[in-house]
Amino acid sequence: MLPSKMTFQALFLSLLCVVLGEPNVITHTEHVKVNEGNAATLRCTLTEPGDVLQVTWQKDSEKKHTNIATYSTMLGFKIHDPYQDRMNFTSLVLNDTSITFWSASLDDTGCYICLFNVFPYGSISGRTCLSVFGLSASVHYNISKGHLIAICNAVGFPEPTISWNNLFNYIPTQEKVRHTNGVMSITSKLEISDSQSISKQDLTCRVSNKNEEMELPIKIKNEQGFSFLGLVIALGILLVIVVLILITLSWRKRICKRTHGGESRPMF
Ligand SMILES: *[C@@H]1O[C@H](CO)[C@@H](O)[C@H](O)[C@H]1NC(C)=O
Ligand SMILES: *[C@@H]1O[C@H](CO)[C@@H](O)[C@H](O)[C@H]1NC(C)=O
Ligand SMILES: *[C@@H]1O[C@H](CO)[C@@H](O)[C@H](O)[C@H]1NC(C)=O
Repeated sequence: MLPSKMTFQALFLSLLCVVLGEPNVITHTEHVKVNEGNAATLRCTLTEPGDVLQVTWQKDSEKKHTNIATYSTMLGFKIHDPYQDRMNFTSLVLNDTSITFWSASLDDTGCYICLFNVFPYGSISGRTCLSVFGLSASVHYNISKGHLIAICNAVGFPEPTISWNNLFNYIPTQEKVRHTNGVMSITSKLEISDSQSISKQDLTCRVSNKNEEMELPIKIKNEQGFSFLGLVIALGILLVIVVLILITLSWRKRICKRTHGGESRPMF
Protein backbone atom coordinates (compact mmCIF):
# COMPACT_ATOMS: atom_id res chain seq x y z
CA MET A 1 0.00 0.00 0.00
CA LEU A 2 1.43 3.33 -1.09
CA PRO A 3 1.42 6.19 1.38
CA SER A 4 -1.06 8.84 0.26
CA LYS A 5 -0.22 12.48 -0.42
CA MET A 6 -1.69 13.39 2.97
CA THR A 7 0.67 11.13 4.87
CA PHE A 8 3.63 12.59 3.00
CA GLN A 9 2.44 16.07 4.01
CA ALA A 10 2.06 15.00 7.61
CA LEU A 11 5.48 13.38 7.55
CA PHE A 12 7.00 16.53 6.08
CA LEU A 13 5.36 18.69 8.72
CA SER A 14 6.49 16.48 11.57
CA LEU A 15 10.03 16.51 10.18
CA LEU A 16 9.84 20.28 9.97
CA CYS A 17 8.70 20.39 13.56
CA VAL A 18 11.59 18.21 14.67
CA VAL A 19 14.03 20.45 12.78
CA LEU A 20 12.59 23.79 13.86
CA GLY A 21 11.30 22.76 17.26
CA GLU A 22 7.57 23.09 17.83
CA PRO A 23 6.46 26.38 19.36
CA ASN A 24 5.17 26.33 22.88
CA VAL A 25 2.58 28.43 24.58
CA ILE A 26 3.39 30.22 27.78
CA THR A 27 0.37 31.03 29.88
CA HIS A 28 1.52 33.99 31.91
CA THR A 29 -1.61 33.74 33.89
CA GLU A 30 -1.78 30.12 34.90
CA HIS A 31 -4.28 30.65 37.67
CA VAL A 32 -5.84 34.06 38.05
CA LYS A 33 -7.71 34.78 41.28
CA VAL A 34 -9.91 37.84 41.61
CA ASN A 35 -12.82 39.06 43.69
CA GLU A 36 -16.20 39.34 42.03
CA GLY A 37 -16.56 42.65 40.20
CA ASN A 38 -12.87 43.16 39.62
CA ALA A 39 -11.13 42.99 36.25
CA ALA A 40 -9.40 39.75 35.28
CA THR A 41 -6.85 39.39 32.49
CA LEU A 42 -5.83 36.12 30.85
CA ARG A 43 -2.73 36.07 28.67
CA CYS A 44 -0.92 33.59 26.42
CA THR A 45 2.30 34.00 24.47
CA LEU A 46 3.72 31.83 21.72
CA THR A 47 7.38 31.15 22.44
CA GLU A 48 8.91 30.37 19.05
CA PRO A 49 8.44 32.52 15.98
CA GLY A 50 5.72 31.20 13.75
CA ASP A 51 3.20 32.57 11.34
CA VAL A 52 0.10 32.98 13.49
CA LEU A 53 -3.01 33.18 11.34
CA GLN A 54 -5.62 33.38 14.05
CA VAL A 55 -6.03 33.43 17.81
CA THR A 56 -9.10 31.95 19.48
CA TRP A 57 -10.09 32.03 23.14
CA GLN A 58 -12.42 29.31 24.35
CA LYS A 59 -14.05 28.43 27.62
CA ASP A 60 -13.17 24.90 28.62
CA SER A 61 -16.45 23.39 29.76
CA GLU A 62 -16.89 19.75 30.67
CA LYS A 63 -18.58 18.78 27.42
CA LYS A 64 -17.74 21.42 24.88
CA HIS A 65 -15.37 24.30 24.22
CA THR A 66 -17.31 27.47 23.50
CA ASN A 67 -15.68 30.23 21.50
CA ILE A 68 -15.40 33.49 23.37
CA ALA A 69 -13.20 35.63 21.19
CA THR A 70 -11.32 35.36 17.91
CA TYR A 71 -8.76 37.57 16.25
CA SER A 72 -7.00 37.38 12.90
CA THR A 73 -5.33 40.05 10.79
CA MET A 74 -7.61 39.09 7.91
CA LEU A 75 -10.97 39.19 9.71
CA GLY A 76 -10.24 41.42 12.66
CA PHE A 77 -11.49 40.67 16.15
CA LYS A 78 -14.80 39.35 17.34
CA ILE A 79 -16.14 38.85 20.86
CA HIS A 80 -18.90 36.26 20.84
CA ASP A 81 -22.37 36.93 22.11
CA PRO A 82 -22.77 36.43 25.84
CA TYR A 83 -19.33 37.98 26.40
CA GLN A 84 -19.69 41.01 24.11
CA ASP A 85 -20.12 43.80 26.64
CA ARG A 86 -18.23 42.10 29.41
CA MET A 87 -14.75 41.74 27.97
CA ASN A 88 -12.38 42.66 25.18
CA PHE A 89 -9.00 41.86 23.73
CA THR A 90 -6.39 43.84 25.60
CA SER A 91 -3.60 42.76 23.24
CA LEU A 92 -4.06 42.42 19.52
CA VAL A 93 -0.57 41.02 18.93
CA LEU A 94 -1.12 37.62 17.31
CA ASN A 95 1.67 35.82 19.15
CA ASP A 96 0.96 37.49 22.50
CA THR A 97 -2.76 37.57 23.19
CA SER A 98 -4.72 38.72 26.19
CA ILE A 99 -8.37 39.17 27.06
CA THR A 100 -9.80 41.08 30.01
CA PHE A 101 -13.10 40.59 31.80
CA TRP A 102 -14.04 44.09 32.94
CA SER A 103 -16.05 42.87 35.91
CA ALA A 104 -15.61 39.18 36.63
CA SER A 105 -18.67 37.27 37.81
CA LEU A 106 -18.90 33.98 39.70
CA ASP A 107 -19.93 32.31 36.45
CA ASP A 108 -16.61 33.27 34.86
CA THR A 109 -14.82 30.84 37.15
CA GLY A 110 -13.32 28.06 35.07
CA CYS A 111 -10.52 27.27 32.65
CA TYR A 112 -9.88 28.95 29.34
CA ILE A 113 -8.02 27.82 26.27
CA CYS A 114 -5.97 30.07 24.02
CA LEU A 115 -5.63 28.55 20.58
CA PHE A 116 -3.00 29.75 18.12
CA ASN A 117 -3.46 28.75 14.51
CA VAL A 118 0.17 28.63 13.41
CA PHE A 119 1.50 27.90 9.94
CA PRO A 120 2.78 25.27 9.35
CA TYR A 121 2.15 23.57 12.70
CA GLY A 122 -1.61 23.80 12.99
CA SER A 123 -3.31 24.52 16.33
CA ILE A 124 -1.18 25.07 19.38
CA SER A 125 -2.98 25.71 22.61
CA GLY A 126 -2.44 26.83 26.17
CA ARG A 127 -4.76 26.61 29.16
CA THR A 128 -5.26 29.14 31.92
CA CYS A 129 -7.73 29.12 34.78
CA LEU A 130 -9.70 31.80 36.55
CA SER A 131 -11.20 31.71 40.03
CA VAL A 132 -13.66 34.40 41.00
CA PHE A 133 -14.33 34.77 44.72
CA GLY A 134 -17.66 36.10 45.77
CA LEU A 135 -20.75 35.70 47.85
CA SER A 136 -24.32 36.82 47.33
CA ALA A 137 -27.34 35.98 49.41
CA SER A 138 -31.02 36.72 49.80
CA VAL A 139 -33.69 35.90 52.32
CA HIS A 140 -37.46 35.84 52.19
CA TYR A 141 -40.29 34.46 54.26
CA ASN A 142 -44.01 34.04 54.39
CA ILE A 143 -46.53 33.33 57.10
CA SER A 144 -49.74 31.48 56.57
CA LYS A 145 -52.00 30.27 59.36
CA GLY A 146 -49.43 31.00 62.03
CA HIS A 147 -46.87 28.89 60.17
CA LEU A 148 -43.68 30.69 59.19
CA ILE A 149 -41.38 29.56 56.38
CA ALA A 150 -38.10 31.43 56.01
CA ILE A 151 -35.82 30.70 53.08
CA CYS A 152 -32.22 31.86 52.83
CA ASN A 153 -30.28 31.50 49.58
CA ALA A 154 -26.52 31.83 49.15
CA VAL A 155 -24.37 31.53 46.05
CA GLY A 156 -20.64 31.70 46.42
CA PHE A 157 -17.12 30.58 45.85
CA PRO A 158 -15.54 29.19 47.95
CA GLU A 159 -18.41 27.21 49.45
CA PRO A 160 -20.62 29.29 51.74
CA THR A 161 -22.34 28.17 54.91
CA ILE A 162 -25.71 29.29 56.23
CA SER A 163 -26.81 29.52 59.85
CA TRP A 164 -29.79 31.02 61.64
CA ASN A 165 -29.85 32.89 64.93
CA ASN A 166 -33.00 31.06 65.94
CA LEU A 167 -33.14 30.15 69.57
CA PHE A 168 -35.98 27.73 68.97
CA ASN A 169 -35.69 24.06 68.53
CA TYR A 170 -36.39 24.17 64.83
CA ILE A 171 -33.82 22.59 62.57
CA PRO A 172 -33.48 24.01 59.07
CA THR A 173 -33.34 21.80 56.01
CA GLN A 174 -30.56 22.48 53.58
CA GLU A 175 -30.01 21.84 49.89
CA LYS A 176 -26.72 22.21 48.08
CA VAL A 177 -25.97 22.38 44.38
CA ARG A 178 -22.38 22.43 43.17
CA HIS A 179 -22.06 23.90 39.69
CA THR A 180 -19.50 22.43 37.33
CA ASN A 181 -17.16 25.40 37.81
CA GLY A 182 -17.11 24.89 41.59
CA VAL A 183 -19.56 27.65 42.52
CA MET A 184 -21.92 26.47 45.24
CA SER A 185 -25.61 27.31 45.71
CA ILE A 186 -27.12 26.64 49.11
CA THR A 187 -30.74 26.99 50.18
CA SER A 188 -31.69 26.76 53.82
CA LYS A 189 -35.34 26.50 54.78
CA LEU A 190 -36.57 27.08 58.30
CA GLU A 191 -40.12 26.15 59.23
CA ILE A 192 -41.54 27.49 62.45
CA SER A 193 -44.98 26.24 63.32
CA ASP A 194 -45.49 28.71 66.18
CA SER A 195 -44.85 32.03 64.43
CA GLN A 196 -46.03 33.95 67.53
CA SER A 197 -42.88 32.94 69.35
CA ILE A 198 -40.66 34.91 67.00
CA SER A 199 -42.67 38.12 67.07
CA LYS A 200 -40.56 39.43 69.92
CA GLN A 201 -37.24 38.63 68.33
CA ASP A 202 -36.07 39.03 64.77
CA LEU A 203 -34.81 36.15 62.74
CA THR A 204 -31.43 36.50 61.07
CA CYS A 205 -29.80 34.41 58.37
CA ARG A 206 -26.00 34.42 58.58
CA VAL A 207 -24.09 33.61 55.41
CA SER A 208 -20.34 33.30 55.26
CA ASN A 209 -17.47 31.81 53.34
CA LYS A 210 -13.69 32.08 53.69
CA ASN A 211 -13.66 35.63 52.31
CA GLU A 212 -16.86 37.28 53.42
CA GLU A 213 -19.65 37.29 55.94
CA MET A 214 -23.10 38.81 55.81
CA GLU A 215 -26.17 39.01 58.00
CA LEU A 216 -29.66 39.14 56.56
CA PRO A 217 -32.25 40.03 59.19
CA ILE A 218 -35.92 39.32 58.64
CA LYS A 219 -38.29 41.86 60.10
CA ILE A 220 -41.32 39.80 60.95
CA LYS A 221 -44.46 41.83 60.55
CA ASN A 222 -46.56 39.95 63.00
CA GLU A 223 -50.13 40.75 62.01
CA GLN A 224 -51.54 40.83 65.53
CA GLY A 225 -48.60 42.77 66.89
CA PHE A 226 -48.88 45.17 64.01
CA SER A 227 -52.60 45.83 64.50
CA PHE A 228 -52.12 46.19 68.27
CA LEU A 229 -49.37 48.77 67.66
CA GLY A 230 -51.63 50.52 65.15
CA LEU A 231 -54.44 50.64 67.72
CA VAL A 232 -52.13 52.14 70.35
CA ILE A 233 -50.92 54.81 67.91
CA ALA A 234 -54.48 55.61 66.80
CA LEU A 235 -55.65 55.92 70.40
CA GLY A 236 -52.69 58.16 71.22
CA ILE A 237 -53.43 60.48 68.29
CA LEU A 238 -57.13 60.58 69.21
CA LEU A 239 -56.28 61.46 72.79
CA VAL A 240 -54.02 64.31 71.69
CA ILE A 241 -56.73 65.67 69.36
CA VAL A 242 -59.37 65.50 72.10
CA VAL A 243 -57.09 67.27 74.56
CA LEU A 244 -56.29 69.96 71.97
CA ILE A 245 -59.99 70.51 71.27
CA LEU A 246 -60.76 70.77 74.97
CA ILE A 247 -57.95 73.27 75.52
CA THR A 248 -59.08 75.39 72.56
CA LEU A 249 -62.66 75.33 73.78
CA SER A 250 -61.75 76.39 77.29
CA TRP A 251 -59.48 79.16 75.96
CA ARG A 252 -62.24 80.47 73.72
CA LYS A 253 -64.66 80.42 76.61
CA ARG A 254 -62.26 82.43 78.74
CA ILE A 255 -61.54 84.94 75.97
CA CYS A 256 -65.25 85.29 75.19
CA LYS A 257 -66.06 85.85 78.87
CA ARG A 258 -63.34 88.50 79.09
CA THR A 259 -64.38 90.32 75.92
CA HIS A 260 -68.06 90.15 76.87
CA GLY A 261 -67.22 91.54 80.29
CA GLY A 262 -65.05 94.27 78.67
CA GLU A 263 -67.85 95.30 76.32
CA SER A 264 -70.43 95.55 79.06
CA ARG A 265 -68.07 97.67 81.14
CA PRO A 266 -67.77 101.32 80.15
CA MET A 267 -64.28 101.99 78.71
CA PHE A 268 -63.89 105.51 80.03
C1 LIG B 1 5.79 38.00 17.81
O1 LIG B 1 5.48 38.64 16.58
C2 LIG B 1 6.22 39.81 16.33
C3 LIG B 1 5.73 40.39 15.02
O2 LIG B 1 4.34 40.48 15.00
C4 LIG B 1 7.70 39.47 16.27
O3 LIG B 1 8.45 40.66 16.08
C5 LIG B 1 8.12 38.79 17.56
O4 LIG B 1 9.46 38.36 17.46
C6 LIG B 1 7.23 37.59 17.82
N1 LIG B 1 7.61 37.02 19.11
C7 LIG B 1 7.91 35.74 19.26
C8 LIG B 1 8.24 35.30 20.65
O5 LIG B 1 7.86 34.96 18.34
C1 LIG C 1 -11.97 46.35 22.12
O1 LIG C 1 -10.58 46.47 21.86
C2 LIG C 1 -10.31 46.90 20.53
C3 LIG C 1 -8.80 46.83 20.35
O2 LIG C 1 -8.11 47.41 21.41
C4 LIG C 1 -10.87 48.29 20.30
O3 LIG C 1 -10.62 48.69 18.98
C5 LIG C 1 -12.37 48.25 20.57
O4 LIG C 1 -12.92 49.53 20.46
C6 LIG C 1 -12.67 47.67 21.93
N1 LIG C 1 -14.08 47.51 22.06
C7 LIG C 1 -14.76 47.97 23.12
C8 LIG C 1 -16.21 47.72 23.13
O5 LIG C 1 -14.21 48.53 24.04
C1 LIG D 1 -44.87 30.58 50.96
O1 LIG D 1 -43.73 29.75 50.90
C2 LIG D 1 -43.95 28.47 50.35
C3 LIG D 1 -42.67 27.72 50.43
O2 LIG D 1 -41.66 28.37 49.76
C4 LIG D 1 -44.47 28.61 48.95
O3 LIG D 1 -44.72 27.33 48.42
C5 LIG D 1 -45.70 29.45 48.92
O4 LIG D 1 -46.12 29.65 47.60
C6 LIG D 1 -45.44 30.77 49.58
N1 LIG D 1 -46.67 31.53 49.66
C7 LIG D 1 -46.74 32.83 49.36
C8 LIG D 1 -48.06 33.47 49.52
O5 LIG D 1 -45.76 33.45 48.99
